[in-house]
Amino acid sequence: MKFAYHVSLILILFCSWNISCSENSAQPQVTNNEPIVWPNAFEMNDRIGRAINLGNALDAPIEGEWGVTLEESFFSLIDSVGFDAVRIPIRWPAHAALDSPYTIDPRFLQRVDWAVESALERGLVAIINIHHYEEIMQHPEEHKSRFLGLWRQLAAHYQDDSPNLIFEVLNEPNAELTPTLWNEYLTEALSIIRETNPRRAVIVGTANWGGISSLSNLVIPEADSMIIVTYHYYNPFQFTHQGAGWVDGSNAWLGTTWSETEAEKQAVRNDFDLAENWAKQHNRPIFMGEFGAYSAAGLVSRVRWTNFVAREAERRGFSWAYWEFCSGFGIYDADAGDWNGYLLQALIPD
Ligand code: BGC
Repeated sequence: MKFAYHVSLILILFCSWNISCSENSAQPQVTNNEPIVWPNAFEMNDRIGRAINLGNALDAPIEGEWGVTLEESFFSLIDSVGFDAVRIPIRWPAHAALDSPYTIDPRFLQRVDWAVESALERGLVAIINIHHYEEIMQHPEEHKSRFLGLWRQLAAHYQDDSPNLIFEVLNEPNAELTPTLWNEYLTEALSIIRETNPRRAVIVGTANWGGISSLSNLVIPEADSMIIVTYHYYNPFQFTHQGAGWVDGSNAWLGTTWSETEAEKQAVRNDFDLAENWAKQHNRPIFMGEFGAYSAAGLVSRVRWTNFVAREAERRGFSWAYWEFCSGFGIYDADAGDWNGYLLQALIPD
């Protein structure tokens, strides 16, 4: 009797443990009680593979303000057409206190948790970053401690999550956050992240808006082998950003085409060769974290450019994330529930 009681108690405990664990699918290491296997940075970059940015949602001042509110179905749709990962741009600075310890609004954090889990539970890799921290670009010294304080909280909060959650330190450093300052800030942010996440893949981008040419200024801690380096690609800018409301003078570029001429293709190859050479020299994996052409450009040109740029990245072993899912550059019309089949095919031809 006593023995039976013990057995059933153990069974009850085991079952309830199992249920509560299986509910938390963002943490697969707990589900099966096996030690987590942390892939190296190159393996993690392969896992990113072909990704898409869930742009204009959590990176807007308030989610919804820029026309995109994330839905559970987005993650299933993205998974179902063959993407491997989502990059989720997040405007943390709009949801955190201005004074130390810069506490993040718990409701906003919960919303991000939901997005991260929605991706991870479908087997998608999830990349979260700090996006649109405009103030640090203008006044870096004043915002440095807040920037680091955000990472201290985020790193602690997500430390037990699956290796398939990847951090990206900061989107497109620019202006007063000079290449020299950026090297300093990223090193400090990494050391804070490493206190709680020693083996998680972390993505680091370049100064001057994340372009390829700034790779030559990038200095990352040599001993940190879990870094993936990222650049953004919008060349030729007058083609990709024609008619973009946030770019002064861009209406004058309307009608610019991309016709896949040898000269146009060679310009892309030359840019990517720079990235490839840098990557080989420094033995780092590369993630092209944003590329895309705005919908004011002609669809035929957009499809050609998107296909060519994605294939050139893949040919060099770079992972990529298209900018973006369902807004001005988008490949999905959330109101109509329709994909832009041409762009989707350009991104994922097989
Ligand atoms: C910005 C977006 C912009 C995109 C293309 C991103 O880094 O966050 O607001 O639409 O680049 O310009």
